[in-house]
Parts: sequence; structure tokens; C-alpha cells
Amino acid sequence: MTTRYRVEYALKTHRRDQFIEWVKGLLAVPFVLLSQPTAIYENDKSAVNAMAVNAHDRYAQIMSDVESLLNDHIAHQQSLQPTPSKLKLLVPSIGTFFTRLPLQDAFAWQDARRFISSRRFVAPSFNDIRQILNTAQIMSLVRSSRLELITFDGDVTLYDDGDSLAPDNPCIPRILELLRKGIRIGIVTAAGYTEAEKYYERLYGLLDAVAASDASHSLEHSLVVMGGESNFLFTYTTSSPCKLVPVPAADWQLPEMTAWTEDNVTALLDVGEAALKDCVECMKLPVQVLRKKRAVGIFPSKGVKLSREQLEETVLVVQRILEMSPVGKRIPFCAFNGGNDVFVDIGDKSWGVMACQRYFGGIEGSRSLHVGDQFLSAGANDFKARIACTTAWIASPTETCALLDEISELKADKVHADYAAFRDSVSEA
Ligand code: IMP
Ligand code: MG
Repeated sequence: MTTRYRVEYALKTHRRDQFIEWVKGLLAVPFVLLSQPTAIYENDKSAVNAMAVNAHDRYAQIMSDVESLLNDHIAHQQSLQPTPSKLKLLVPSIGTFFTRLPLQDAFAWQDARRFISSRRFVAPSFNDIRQILNTAQIMSLVRSSRLELITFDGDVTLYDDGDSLAPDNPCIPRILELLRKGIRIGIVTAAGYTEAEKYYERLYGLLDAVAASDASHSLEHSLVVMGGESNFLFTYTTSSPCKLVPVPAADWQLPEMTAWTEDNVTALLDVGEAALKDCVECMKLPVQVLRKKRAVGIFPSKGVKLSREQLEETVLVVQRILEMSPVGKRIPFCAFNGGNDVFVDIGDKSWGVMACQRYFGGIEGSRSLHVGDQFLSAGANDFKARIACTTAWIASPTETCALLDEISELKADKVHADYAAFRDSVSEA
């Protein structure tokens, strides 16, 4: 018999990350067995402290076991074995990994900050695990000194949805520090404009700050903006009033992009536009349709908010129709929920990131990190970047800042100090 759970699961897979859910399930067992909710009225501090240390050890052991499974999965990947790894059997949607992930160390680092093991009522959550995975990815990149390129999504990652990167944005000094250390920076956004001035209007805080700190012009061409997911590339230069100039196609486009002919682009956008219009009619959506050079989308008038259900239904319908169309098999596309709009873009962020890697001389995926907020499997546009490089999944611009701080703080030997500090803090409490 089909259970309610199965029905829910079948309907919501596009809103779940199977790997994170699986780890969450593993950590739930020690939480249930060890947490001490009754200590609240028994006022037994020593039991709570013992619980925290015990829970920490059990969670850490689980993270170490998952780390071993991941290493085995990576070994399978590298040896090109046709048989699936054990992790692939357990989590069928698991993808390709560009680096190992020191999950146990990352757990210690996050536990010292979030006190996950000290909680008595709230089990390790989706967000806890997402942050542990981010830390593990940063640790891996920093420890091997491999980080050469960081690409950022725009909306929700660097600034609030629909906003601009203003001069007081706290990410700016952190990005400047990375540029000074020789790390290349890309902004890979869905926002698709053909003119440099439009990107300047959205990103002026960062561009002006870079120009102000770059009297010697040494940072020129180490910052790029990729618009429309993978369609328009601009590079930073002080020689233009808007600090950006278009990069000639020959310097960044990938050979596969020759299939993105005007005929294919028009045909794909025609199918996308018709599918969007069907949804508008079907659900009586209060929106306008916007056709652009490399995108087509729907958006409501100012002040009108579309519901999550309207947005998700539209994305899923449009995506299915495009997948089934002949042109959808010829060129890549990305249909996504932009928070209060739905867009279909030509290409996707995997192509956007790969084009940046190519522009900077062929940076490998294992030396490149994409930071974004949209990593669910359907209707999310940062998800595809996982094909091109390592990734970090943030939920707000504040988390992006914290992640950039982690990059500068993380030194291999600090982890053990953190763990010791964690133990001290729970035994002192
Ligand atoms: P991102 O988060 O930086 O990738 O920006 C996504 C947002 O850019 C979307 O939600 C839209 O509001 C906006 N946008 C503007 N132009 C385009 C376009 O051509 N394609 C997709 N999104 C666009
Ligand atoms: Mg975004």
C-alpha cells in the first residue's frame, strides 16, 4: 500500500537534498538515544555536560564514517568502475565530488560554534549539515592551497533578492582581500543584460571599491561578471567608466556553445514562452511575460507576491515541456524559480562557471568554488554549478560573509584547538 510518507516523498523530491537528509537521519539516532530533555526539570548540569561530550563523540564518529564512504565513492569515481559505490547505493542521487571532504573536522569546527551536541530538544538539522558540508569543502580547498577561483551567485548570495551590491555591503572588503591574494573572482548571475552599464548599476559597490584600491591596475581582468547564467561575459578594467568591458567570445566560449545558434536559441525560447503562457492562463497568474535575447520569464507587478506553489508548478511544467521538446535535447537550458519570478535561460551555471575557468586560463574544477543559494535539484539555478566545480550552499548574504571569514580563518591546525575549546567550554558550563 502506498503510505502517506511515500506520497509526500514522491511529490517533494525536488525540494529535498537526499544526501543531507540521509546524514540527518544518521545523526537523529544518537540524538534520540542521548538527548536529556528531562534535565530541564531535574536541574542536573553534570548530566547535560556529559550528554554534550557523549553526543559530540557519537556525531563525530558518524561524520568520520560518512567521510570514509565519500572517500570510497571518490575512489570509485576516479577508477571509472561501472559498478556503483556503496554511497551511491545508499544515496542514489549522490553526484561527483571534486575533492575529499574532511567531515569529522568540519563537524568539530561547527559544533564549537553552533553547539549542536549540547541541544536537548532540537536534533541536528538540515541547516547544521549544510553548514558542516560547506566548512568541509572550505577546509579541503584551504588545506591543499588549491583555491584559485571563487564564483558567486548574485541575488540572495551577495545581496538581498532584487537588490544591488551597494558600497556598504560587508562582502566587499572580504572579496578585495581574496583578490589581493591572487584568487580570481567571478559573479555568475542569472540576471541577463547585454550592456556593461546595467551590471554596473547592480554591482557598483564592489566595482568602485576594487577600482579605488587598484591604483596600480594590478587587479584588472581578475574579476569577471557572467550574466544570463552563461551568456554574457564582462571583465573588470579601470579603463571603462562602468569598470566593465565585454570579453570577446573567442576568449571564453566553450566549443560546445557553437550549438547555441540563433535558430536553436529562438526555438528553445519559443517553446519556453509558450509553456510559460500556458501556466499563466491555467493558474490565472497576475504576471507579465518578458522575452529577452537569451531568456524568457514571467514576473508580477511591483508589490504583488506570487505563492511558492504557483512558482514551483510553473517551473516544473516548463522544465518538463522543454525537456521533451526536440530543441531541449539540442542545447542546455535552465528553468528556475527566482523567488518571485520564473525564468528560462539558455545554458546554465555549469557553463557559466566553466567559461570563467576557461577565461582564467583553464582552472580545474577542484580549484574552483561556486557560492550560491539555489541548490535544490529542480527549479534552482546554482545546482548545475556542481557539474563544474566545488560548491558552498548558503542561505543569505550574511552566511556568505561568514563563509568568506571561514576561508581566511581556517588553518589546518586550528581544528584541534577548536575541539579542545569545545570540550573545555562544556565542562566549564
Ligand atoms: P541570481 O540569483 O543572481 O542568479 O539572479 C536571479 C534573478 O535575476 C532572477 O530571479 C530575476 O529576477 C533576475 N533576472 C533578470 N534578468 C534575468 C534573465 O535574463 N534571466 C534570469 N533571471 C533574470
Ligand atoms: Mg540567487
